[in-house]
This record gives sequence, C-alpha cells and structure tokens, in this order.
Amino acid sequence: MCGIVGYIGPREAADFLVTGLRRLEYRGYDSAGVATITPEGEFAVVKTTGRIDRLAAQLAQTPVHGHIGIGHTRWATHGAPSDVNAHPHLGGDAALAVVHNGVIENFESLKQRLQAEGYSFRSATDTEVIAQLIDSCLKRQELAADMAAVDYQPLVAVVREALSQLQGTYGLAILFRRWPEVIIAARLGSPLVVGIGSDEHFVASDASPLAGFTDKIVYLADHELAVVTADNLRVIHRDQGCVHHDVHVLDFQAGDIAKGGYAHYMLKEIFEQPESIENVMRGRLDHDAATSKFGGFNLTPQQLRTANRIIMTGCGTSWHAGLVGEYQIESLARLPVEVEYASELRYRNPPLDNNTLVFAITQSGETADTLAALREMKRKGCPTLGICNVVGSTIAQETDGGFYLRAGPEVGVASTKAFTSQCTLLAMLALYFGRLRHLSFAAGMRIIEQLKALPEHVRESLACNDQVQRIAEKYAHCNNFLYLGRQFNFPTALEGALKLKEISYIHAEGYPAAEMKHGPIALVDAQTPSVFLLPHGQVYGKVISNLQEIKARGGPVIAVVCRGDDEASKLADDVIEIPAVEEFLQPVVTVIPLQLLAYHIAVARGCDVDKPRNLAKSVTVE
Ligand code: M6R
Repeated sequence: MCGIVGYIGPREAADFLVTGLRRLEYRGYDSAGVATITPEGEFAVVKTTGRIDRLAAQLAQTPVHGHIGIGHTRWATHGAPSDVNAHPHLGGDAALAVVHNGVIENFESLKQRLQAEGYSFRSATDTEVIAQLIDSCLKRQELAADMAAVDYQPLVAVVREALSQLQGTYGLAILFRRWPEVIIAARLGSPLVVGIGSDEHFVASDASPLAGFTDKIVYLADHELAVVTADNLRVIHRDQGCVHHDVHVLDFQAGDIAKGGYAHYMLKEIFEQPESIENVMRGRLDHDAATSKFGGFNLTPQQLRTANRIIMTGCGTSWHAGLVGEYQIESLARLPVEVEYASELRYRNPPLDNNTLVFAITQSGETADTLAALREMKRKGCPTLGICNVVGSTIAQETDGGFYLRAGPEVGVASTKAFTSQCTLLAMLALYFGRLRHLSFAAGMRIIEQLKALPEHVRESLACNDQVQRIAEKYAHCNNFLYLGRQFNFPTALEGALKLKEISYIHAEGYPAAEMKHGPIALVDAQTPSVFLLPHGQVYGKVISNLQEIKARGGPVIAVVCRGDDEASKLADDVIEIPAVEEFLQPVVTVIPLQLLAYHIAVARGCDVDKPRNLAKSVTVE
C-alpha cells in the first residue's frame, strides 16, 4: 500500500526520492508524487497518477531542485486515484507539505471545522486535512523563523497538537517552508524508519529504499515523532519525551531488491526458495537434542510444556501456511490447532484459557487485520508469537515473542518464498512441540534429516520450470481452474488457486479433492482444467479415484506427481514431476509447480505479474 520517502542532506533530494519510490512500487499504488524545498525557499511539487516511470518522465521535463524533499506512492482510500489526490499535499499558503500513510477516521469532522475557519480543500483526501490542520495549529502559535535555536521544540509542539486531534493511523513526513532544514516524521499504526547517513538522513515507510544508501536504520514506534536534520536525529515519544533510539544494521543490499536477471520479481523469488528455506533453518536444528531450537519464544519451558492449544491467524497466503501448520503440528506434536482468518478472529470472542498460544503469521508484519486480531488476543491475556519476514515490522514488535523467516525482501505482490519459509518454520515448530511431548529422539533425528534435505528437493522441483511453461501455454486460454488436494496438500491447493487468481485474473477454486463431488464437480467441462496434487502418501489411492471422477466427466487433468509415478501419468493429460518427500513437508515442494504455473499463465496472458491490478503487497487497511 502507500509508501513514503524523505531525504535531507547534500544530494539532490529528488534523485533519492525517485529511486526510493521505485523500491516501494511493490507495495501497490495508483499515483505518486514528490515535493522539495528549492534553494529559493519555495515548494516544488510534481505528482501524477500512474507509475513511477511517468513521475520520472515529468521530473525530467520539470526538474525539482533542493536538498530536502519528501515523496509518496498512493493507494487510494479517500478519493479516486488522480493527480490532485496524489501526495504530497500542501497546507496553508504552501506553508508546509505532507505525505501520509494510513487512514484518518475523523477527517470529515476535522474538515468541516477547518472549513469553518476558512480553509478550502482541493482534494478528497484525509491527508490534506492533516496538512491544513497542522497549518491551523501553526498559525495559532505564530512561530518565529529563527526557532531552530531552540531545537525545533515549538514546531514539535505544533505538530503534536495537530496529531492529538487525529483518530486513526498515520505514518507522516512533513516539510515546512520556513524551516527548510528539518523533516518531521511521525508514526501511529503505520510503519516508518529513518536511515542514518553521513551528514544526511533518509525517511521511508520500510527499509527497502535505503539499501545502497545507508545500512544504519532506526525503526520508529507508535506515538514517536522524529526531528530529522542533515546531521542530527531526535526521537520524541508522546508520553516519555526524548527517547533513546536503537540503531539497527540493515542486512540487505540494493542487489537484493533488484530483479537479478529475472524477468519479474516473482520469478526471481520463486527461484530463491532453496536458499530462503536454508536460511529459515540456519542455526535452528539441534542435532544433540534431536529437535529444533528457537531464540525468540520468550516463554518459560513450563509455559511451552503446558500449552494445550494453538490458535494461528493470518490472511491470504499466510493463512494457508497456518493451515499447513495445523496438519504438521497435529500430526507431529498431537497438539490441537485452530486456524482463523485474522479478519474474523478480530471480531470473534473464542473461549480461551491460559494455555492457549496465539501465532500471528505474516510476511509483511503490517497486515491490518492480523495486527488487530493479535491485539485482541493479547488483550485477552494469551501469549502471542509472530512468524514474520519483515524485521522490525509492527507485528514483530508487538508480539510477546516470535521468529523471523529470513526470506529476504519479498517484492512480488504474489507471495511465494514467504509461504515456503512459513511452512518450513511451522514444520520446525511441530518438531519442537513434538519433542516436548511424545516424539522419540530417533523420530526427531529422522525429521531433522528430512528438513535438511528440503532445500535440495525444492531445487529439484524448480527443474520443472520449462515443462510447466509449456503446460501453462496450453491452458492459458481457460477461464476456470480447479485445484484439488487432500490432507497436507489441501492448503497447497488453496494456495495454488490464490496464486492463479491474483496474477492472471482467472477464476480458480481450491478444494479438498473429495469435497469436489459435493458441488464444484458441476463446473467440470472440457475448458475447465483440474490441477491435482498427487504425491505419494496415505491418501494417494483416494485422490486417484477423485481424478478419475473428473476424467469421466471430460475435464482435463494436470497432475503434480512424484517422479516415476506411472499410474498417475497414464490417467492425467499433463504431468509435472517432483521429488518424493515426507508428507508433512510436501506442501513446500508441491507448491513450486503451482507458483510456476500461475506465473507462466499470467505471462502468457500479458498480465503485470509483479503488480497485479487492485492488489497491494501489504494490506494496511481493514
Ligand atoms: O504480509 P502478510 O503475509 O500478512 O499478507 C497477507 C496477505 O495479504 C497476502 O498473503 C496476500 O494474500 C498475498 N498477495 C498472497 O500472494
């Protein structure tokens, strides 16, 4: 969703702003803009609907100069995507400029009050209300221009007065025409970071714009405000005043978020999976104790031993990973697991006891529904644990403990490597809880060996790429697909269908294979391919029967099978071979051809794979 960048220092601000905005494109947006304060002391603003390329072209025509600036990618919430609704928004008589992520819930009543004060509004956005509100507070204070001598404290007071009137969420970066040597940034519910350079500072809504510019980063927390000058950073908390800020070292480089020779980020990320799966396991397998080990539980051994129920929550792909975790933990650890859509859990009132652990699963760590569900479960006293990819994200900060996926930046809107890392981490948790209970040392060692072999099996699965591309081209004209699997591969079927929907705009349904005859079988015809997940396992024979039911009704079948499976190969129209792995790890391997199938079908249909229509990488609104 929306993205923020800001710069102050010796460079031409616009150069960083455009580079930074390109790095934020993956979040999804419909318009973009930048504002700088020129050497003459005026605002220069350029904004446009459409892609950053369009903004860059306009900036080439009309360059904006200055060593301080802010920029934004907007994903419309209030008011249609348009040039006028794009950020930055100016307040007062071009006294200040604001970029904003989040949603202000009381913007209508504030707007009416400001209109009564004489303010007029050009846009339909809640952000312009913030800009005018700050201007109104500023006017009342009549600050002198030489206020720098007092550390911007009066300016901070003005901004805080305005913020105290806002209900909702915000990540903000603000420039003031009369104080062209300071950016004020503020956060409540919408992430914001400050990058520290040498005599320069960067502001951004996540770390990706900073790669290659600085590796020193400060994560702002809710209710914090940053006073950012070229050579100084002060962080002020609403209640605690000036606070110490930890400086973290970024662990990725600019190259990590480039396409690295692949046509799309999604394809690059699919092929990164052997490595990302190795990363999620690194240092977490304990051969001596035949278990897995995690540094982030922050729970006593007693709490872990007496946990008698797990609730997993998340959205989209992360919810699917939770379903995989349910099968894994129930089978290896015999612990009851419930998996809840975060958007439902946040308004439910499930009976809970002290021994229920809640896991929030999320790539971005910023998904609004997951965050709200997590807060609700915390409020009810459950220990909460995060399974997050983005370091320092809000959910990573708010959970009592948790584990990073270490998958590296996932830029493609369609989640791929985060899913396989989530499933691998959940398998390790299943091993951990199993070894706390009934799993023997020998069983633990067997599972460790299977986990260690997983990256190689994923590498072997990726070898099907060319074959999948041919199959994709054969079926790319179809407008309906079914994805069918059972047990561990039922969530994979859901995930395969979601991938196809998201990036190729084809209607696809994932079902437990046997459930298909209770309704969806009515959809089967010669133009509706069924993708069967058919690796060897306890329900193999049952799924073969389901496949025959589809064939008997004239539906084409694409089957994902273990290498050398002649029986399935004779029945299916098209076959994709993968290596055989233990059932609890199958989703990590069987999902690979489904990711590739969705990718190649989307490419064959000319879709924008990395930025599918209507979607955002990180869904920070309810
Ligand atoms: O960042 P999160 O894992 O919390 O995101 C949850 C969903 O929005 C996300 O998985 C979405 O479904 C993806 N576009 C799936 O590819």
